[in-house]
Amino acid sequence: MKSLLSFGCGNMAQAIIEGMYKEKSPLDYFLYTPSNTKAVSLARAVHGTHVDNLSTLPSCDFYMLSCKPQQLGDLAQKIKGKLNPNAVVISILAGTTTETIKKELSIDKVLRVMPNTPSLVGAGVNAFYFSDEVLREERDFLTKLFESFSKVFTFDKESEIDVITGFSGSGPAYIFEFSRVLIEKMISMGIDREVATEMIKWTFYGSSKLQLESSDTSEELRNKVTSKKGVTFEALEVFKNSNFEKMVDTALDAAYNRSVELSK
Ligand SMILES: NC(=O)c1ccc[n+]([C@@H]2O[C@H](COP(=O)([O-])OP(=O)(O)OC[C@H]3O[C@@H](n4cnc5c(N)ncnc54)[C@H](OP(=O)(O)O)[C@@H]3O)[C@@H](O)[C@H]2O)c1
Repeated sequence: MKSLLSFGCGNMAQAIIEGMYKEKSPLDYFLYTPSNTKAVSLARAVHGTHVDNLSTLPSCDFYMLSCKPQQLGDLAQKIKGKLNPNAVVISILAGTTTETIKKELSIDKVLRVMPNTPSLVGAGVNAFYFSDEVLREERDFLTKLFESFSKVFTFDKESEIDVITGFSGSGPAYIFEFSRVLIEKMISMGIDREVATEMIKWTFYGSSKLQLESSDTSEELRNKVTSKKGVTFEALEVFKNSNFEKMVDTALDAAYNRSVELSK
């Protein structure tokens, strides 16, 4: 059986590893965190092994970097030279390039992943970029592994990861912010908070489900809700006149620029 050791067991690692475990992926899990608590509880949840210090490490097929990007330097100092040199390092660190990881850990095989939080409910999007050294069978295994609990999109150029970060990685935050604004507005117009929250949650869920199951484009689906001079039309006219598209465009450029800046 193949084995995976995760350095860090926060929100994202938990979503990914529990996703793998629920789909009965054939893996032995090893979990490490500096404060132990989260590693112990994740190890319990996935019938894995808690690694309580970094002095000696199990020789694994995969090592997953799941700490914050700014914690990589500290971690790398402690684990460099103790990893199986033929392993693939899976990095979920935003804005950290495969070159940086190779240098920090002296390992050539790297899979850079940009995940998103819906992995927590088995509906995540994971963007992949493999360093050249990762073998075909390792790519196939890892793709199948992540596909068991999420949608996987593999990119040939690492620069594309900077592009998609502001979309699939940050995207859930835009949706939640829009959802928050709708809920607050509904409440301000006299609707009970609990009712408003449930109605908006279901509106987002239903719209996503419809979009996934329909062959219509976003524009066609929008038009099916919008009759000329009707209620939706009036609201969308305000979006248009307030330059909604331009505002979103500027926001996504800002996200992209930040992503490029972090990769340097
Ligand atoms: N959240 C998102 O939507 C999202 C999306 C895309 C990518 N990411 C990436 O996912 C990564 C993790 O994010 P998160 O939201 O899961 O963070 P988080 O919940 O704060 O978890 C960070 C984990 O790293 C551990 N850690 C801290 N210092 C460490 C060290 N020196 N060595 C090893 N582990 C260490 C922490 O341990 P303790 O429990 O002991 O503190 C904790 O378990 C980040 O690099 C981020 O860029 C996140």
